[in-house]
Amino acid sequence: MNNKIIIINGPNLNLLGEREQSQYGSDTLNKIKETCLKKSKELELEVEFAQSNVEGELVNIIQDARKNFDGMIINAAAFTHTSVAIRDALELFKKPIIELHISNIYKREEFRQKSLISDVVNGGIFGLGSDGYILAIISMQKLLIK
Ligand code: DQA
Repeated sequence: MNNKIIIINGPNLNLLGEREQSQYGSDTLNKIKETCLKKSKELELEVEFAQSNVEGELVNIIQDARKNFDGMIINAAAFTHTSVAIRDALELFKKPIIELHISNIYKREEFRQKSLISDVVNGGIFGLGSDGYILAIISMQKLLIK
């Protein structure tokens, strides 16, 4: 059976394409989703895509993912820098997690340079634009076959 992964997106990522193109590029979340589905098919992974602007909903999605998914890619967006609740939920997942950011958070405002989740994930990708999603899928597939 194919491994199943979930790609979780946090607040304001539903407005990609419209939002600060100098940081996030022009791809919409739908376009990114399509590209991810294509790449996962090639790699024989099953992928589900999720997005929420609500912290508690993200916690619920992460908790539920324990039962149904083998790996997780998460762009927690602004909650990366603030949410102990999302960090705690990620710690309960116990399977591979990749942290993703479209922009280089270490080159931006000081408040973005701190991630509360980096030390509870396997690894991270940042600053490579929406290509980061594809790179994360490739890395996840490798983590899952190890
Ligand atoms: C982001 C970076 C965060 O600081 C920001 O709040 C986002 C997007 C990124 O993908 O670069 O919403 O996670």
